[in-house]
Amino acid sequence: MSWLDTIGKTIMPLASAETRAEARRNAETIARDNEWLSQILDAHREIERYMGEALSAPDAQSRIAASEKFFHLLASHSIAEEVAIYPALVDHNGAVAGKIHAAMAYEEQQVAKIQQAKLKTLDPMGSEWRNKMEHLQAAIQQHVYQEESSWFPELAKNAAPEKRQMLSREYAEAFDRYGGKNLGSAAGRAVAGGSSTTGMAGSRPAGMEPADVPPVPGIVS
Ligand SMILES: [Fe+2]
Repeated sequence: MSWLDTIGKTIMPLASAETRAEARRNAETIARDNEWLSQILDAHREIERYMGEALSAPDAQSRIAASEKFFHLLASHSIAEEVAIYPALVDHNGAVAGKIHAAMAYEEQQVAKIQQAKLKTLDPMGSEWRNKMEHLQAAIQQHVYQEESSWFPELAKNAAPEKRQMLSREYAEAFDRYGGKNLGSAAGRAVAGGSSTTGMAGSRPAGMEPADVPPVPGIVS
Protein backbone atom coordinates (compact mmCIF):
# COMPACT_ATOMS: atom_id res chain seq x y z
CA MET A 1 0.00 0.00 0.00
CA SER A 2 1.38 3.39 -0.99
CA TRP A 3 1.92 6.39 1.29
CA LEU A 4 -1.14 7.98 -0.29
CA ASP A 5 -3.28 4.94 0.46
CA THR A 6 -1.98 4.71 4.01
CA ILE A 7 -2.20 8.35 5.02
CA GLY A 8 -4.92 9.67 2.76
CA LYS A 9 -7.47 6.92 3.25
CA THR A 10 -7.09 6.68 7.00
CA ILE A 11 -6.96 10.37 7.91
CA MET A 12 -8.63 12.15 5.01
CA PRO A 13 -10.43 10.13 2.30
CA LEU A 14 -9.56 10.85 -1.31
CA ALA A 15 -11.52 13.89 -2.46
CA SER A 16 -13.56 13.93 -5.65
CA ALA A 17 -12.95 16.58 -8.31
CA GLU A 18 -16.14 18.31 -7.19
CA THR A 19 -15.06 18.35 -3.55
CA ARG A 20 -11.64 19.67 -4.50
CA ALA A 21 -13.22 22.41 -6.60
CA GLU A 22 -15.42 23.48 -3.69
CA ALA A 23 -12.38 23.62 -1.39
CA ARG A 24 -10.58 25.74 -3.99
CA ARG A 25 -13.46 28.22 -4.11
CA ASN A 26 -13.54 28.52 -0.33
CA ALA A 27 -9.76 28.98 -0.23
CA GLU A 28 -10.00 31.71 -2.87
CA THR A 29 -12.42 33.58 -0.63
CA ILE A 30 -10.05 33.29 2.35
CA ALA A 31 -7.14 34.34 0.14
CA ARG A 32 -8.67 37.79 -0.34
CA ASP A 33 -7.39 38.62 3.15
CA ASN A 34 -4.35 36.34 3.05
CA GLU A 35 -1.79 37.20 0.42
CA TRP A 36 0.32 34.17 1.28
CA LEU A 37 -2.60 31.90 0.43
CA SER A 38 -3.28 33.80 -2.77
CA GLN A 39 0.32 33.19 -3.87
CA ILE A 40 0.03 29.53 -3.00
CA LEU A 41 -3.21 29.11 -4.93
CA ASP A 42 -1.54 30.65 -7.97
CA ALA A 43 1.22 28.06 -7.74
CA HIS A 44 -1.27 25.22 -7.26
CA ARG A 45 -3.16 26.21 -10.41
CA GLU A 46 0.05 26.33 -12.43
CA ILE A 47 1.29 23.01 -11.06
CA GLU A 48 -2.02 21.47 -12.12
CA ARG A 49 -1.71 23.03 -15.56
CA TYR A 50 1.83 21.75 -16.12
CA MET A 51 0.87 18.25 -14.95
CA GLY A 52 -2.00 18.23 -17.42
CA GLU A 53 0.25 19.46 -20.23
CA ALA A 54 2.81 16.76 -19.48
CA LEU A 55 0.20 14.02 -19.56
CA SER A 56 -1.43 15.26 -22.76
CA ALA A 57 1.75 16.13 -24.70
CA PRO A 58 1.83 14.16 -27.98
CA ASP A 59 5.55 13.38 -28.20
CA ALA A 60 8.58 12.76 -26.01
CA GLN A 61 10.15 16.16 -26.51
CA SER A 62 7.07 18.17 -25.54
CA ARG A 63 6.32 15.75 -22.72
CA ILE A 64 9.79 16.23 -21.26
CA ALA A 65 9.54 20.01 -21.68
CA ALA A 66 6.21 20.17 -19.82
CA SER A 67 7.49 17.77 -17.15
CA GLU A 68 10.52 19.92 -16.50
CA LYS A 69 8.36 22.99 -15.97
CA PHE A 70 6.21 20.94 -13.60
CA PHE A 71 9.22 19.59 -11.67
CA HIS A 72 10.79 23.03 -11.41
CA LEU A 73 7.64 24.79 -10.18
CA LEU A 74 6.75 21.97 -7.81
CA ALA A 75 10.22 22.15 -6.26
CA SER A 76 10.16 25.93 -5.83
CA HIS A 77 6.65 25.91 -4.42
CA SER A 78 7.08 22.94 -2.11
CA ILE A 79 10.34 24.19 -0.62
CA ALA A 80 8.80 27.63 -0.07
CA GLU A 81 5.91 26.00 1.81
CA GLU A 82 8.30 23.87 3.83
CA VAL A 83 10.41 26.78 5.04
CA ALA A 84 7.77 29.52 5.30
CA ILE A 85 4.32 27.99 5.85
CA TYR A 86 4.44 24.52 7.40
CA PRO A 87 6.25 25.61 10.59
CA ALA A 88 3.32 27.96 11.25
CA LEU A 89 0.90 25.01 11.18
CA VAL A 90 2.54 23.76 14.36
CA ASP A 91 2.03 27.10 16.09
CA HIS A 92 -1.48 27.93 14.90
CA ASN A 93 -3.41 24.74 14.07
CA GLY A 94 -3.72 23.35 17.59
CA ALA A 95 -1.34 21.67 20.00
CA VAL A 96 -1.85 18.19 18.53
CA ALA A 97 -3.51 18.83 15.18
CA GLY A 98 -0.88 21.38 14.21
CA LYS A 99 1.91 18.84 14.61
CA ILE A 100 -0.06 16.24 12.68
CA HIS A 101 -0.80 18.67 9.85
CA ALA A 102 2.85 19.69 9.58
CA ALA A 103 4.12 16.10 9.75
CA MET A 104 1.74 14.99 7.01
CA ALA A 105 2.57 18.00 4.86
CA TYR A 106 6.32 17.43 5.04
CA GLU A 107 6.02 13.67 4.56
CA GLU A 108 3.75 13.89 1.54
CA GLN A 109 5.99 16.40 -0.19
CA GLN A 110 9.13 14.36 0.43
CA VAL A 111 7.52 11.28 -1.08
CA ALA A 112 6.39 13.35 -4.06
CA LYS A 113 9.99 14.44 -4.59
CA ILE A 114 11.11 10.81 -4.60
CA GLN A 115 8.42 9.93 -7.14
CA GLN A 116 9.44 12.93 -9.21
CA ALA A 117 13.07 11.79 -9.29
CA LYS A 118 11.98 8.30 -10.36
CA LEU A 119 9.92 9.77 -13.21
CA LYS A 120 13.03 11.36 -14.67
CA THR A 121 14.59 7.94 -15.21
CA LEU A 122 11.66 6.58 -17.24
CA ASP A 123 10.85 6.70 -20.95
CA PRO A 124 8.32 9.55 -21.19
CA MET A 125 6.40 7.66 -23.87
CA GLY A 126 6.23 4.42 -21.86
CA SER A 127 3.32 3.05 -19.82
CA GLU A 128 5.37 3.05 -16.61
CA TRP A 129 6.00 6.80 -16.97
CA ARG A 130 2.27 7.45 -17.51
CA ASN A 131 1.25 5.28 -14.56
CA LYS A 132 3.71 7.00 -12.26
CA MET A 133 2.81 10.49 -13.48
CA GLU A 134 -0.89 9.78 -12.98
CA HIS A 135 -0.21 8.44 -9.50
CA LEU A 136 1.85 11.54 -8.68
CA GLN A 137 -0.92 13.75 -10.07
CA ALA A 138 -3.49 12.05 -7.80
CA ALA A 139 -1.17 12.35 -4.81
CA ILE A 140 -0.56 16.04 -5.43
CA GLN A 141 -4.27 16.71 -5.94
CA GLN A 142 -5.00 15.13 -2.57
CA HIS A 143 -2.15 16.99 -0.89
CA VAL A 144 -3.37 20.29 -2.35
CA TYR A 145 -6.90 19.46 -1.20
CA GLN A 146 -5.68 18.91 2.35
CA GLU A 147 -3.91 22.25 2.26
CA GLU A 148 -6.81 24.19 0.77
CA SER A 149 -9.68 22.56 2.66
CA SER A 150 -8.21 22.24 6.13
CA TRP A 151 -4.63 23.08 6.98
CA PHE A 152 -4.39 26.54 5.40
CA PRO A 153 -7.90 27.84 6.23
CA GLU A 154 -7.19 26.89 9.84
CA LEU A 155 -3.90 28.75 9.73
CA ALA A 156 -5.56 31.80 8.16
CA LYS A 157 -8.22 31.82 10.86
CA ASN A 158 -5.79 31.57 13.78
CA ALA A 159 -2.80 33.67 12.68
CA ALA A 160 -2.71 37.35 13.64
CA PRO A 161 -2.54 39.93 10.82
CA GLU A 162 1.16 40.54 11.45
CA LYS A 163 1.86 36.83 11.20
CA ARG A 164 -0.11 36.56 7.97
CA GLN A 165 1.94 39.38 6.47
CA MET A 166 5.11 37.62 7.54
CA LEU A 167 3.91 34.39 5.89
CA SER A 168 3.34 36.29 2.65
CA ARG A 169 6.81 37.78 2.76
CA GLU A 170 8.61 34.58 3.74
CA TYR A 171 6.82 32.46 1.14
CA ALA A 172 7.57 34.94 -1.66
CA GLU A 173 11.23 35.18 -0.72
CA ALA A 174 11.71 31.42 -0.49
CA PHE A 175 9.82 30.82 -3.74
CA ASP A 176 12.09 33.28 -5.49
CA ARG A 177 15.24 31.95 -3.84
CA TYR A 178 14.50 28.38 -4.91
CA GLY A 179 13.90 29.03 -8.55
CA GLY A 180 10.33 30.28 -8.77
CA LYS A 181 11.43 33.34 -10.72
CA ASN A 182 10.47 33.31 -14.41
CA LEU A 183 8.21 30.29 -14.08
CA GLY A 184 4.92 32.00 -14.85
CA SER A 185 2.28 34.15 -13.23
CA ALA A 186 2.64 32.57 -9.79
CA ALA A 187 6.33 33.34 -9.83
CA GLY A 188 5.72 36.81 -11.17
CA ARG A 189 3.28 37.66 -8.40
CA ALA A 190 5.65 36.41 -5.72
CA VAL A 191 8.71 38.14 -7.06
CA ALA A 192 6.82 41.33 -7.78
CA GLY A 193 5.76 41.59 -4.16
CA GLY A 194 2.33 39.99 -4.15
CA SER A 195 -1.03 41.53 -4.91
CA SER A 196 -2.86 44.38 -3.30
CA THR A 197 -3.70 42.61 -0.04
CA THR A 198 -0.49 43.28 1.81
CA GLY A 199 2.04 44.54 -0.68
CA MET A 200 4.78 43.31 1.61
CA ALA A 201 6.14 40.27 -0.16
CA GLY A 202 9.73 40.79 -1.14
CA SER A 203 10.42 43.36 1.60
CA ARG A 204 11.68 42.58 5.07
CA PRO A 205 11.63 44.62 8.29
CA ALA A 206 14.96 45.59 9.79
CA GLY A 207 16.42 42.85 11.94
CA MET A 208 14.42 40.04 10.37
CA GLU A 209 16.64 37.53 8.61
CA PRO A 210 15.64 35.12 5.84
CA ALA A 211 14.33 31.73 6.89
CA ASP A 212 17.01 29.13 7.45
CA VAL A 213 16.50 26.97 4.41
CA PRO A 214 18.06 23.72 3.24
CA PRO A 215 19.85 23.34 -0.10
CA VAL A 216 17.68 22.54 -3.09
CA PRO A 217 17.29 18.77 -3.46
CA GLY A 218 18.55 17.15 -6.60
CA ILE A 219 15.07 16.91 -8.05
CA VAL A 220 15.10 20.47 -9.32
CA SER A 221 15.26 20.45 -13.12
FE1 LIG B 1 0.98 23.60 -1.78
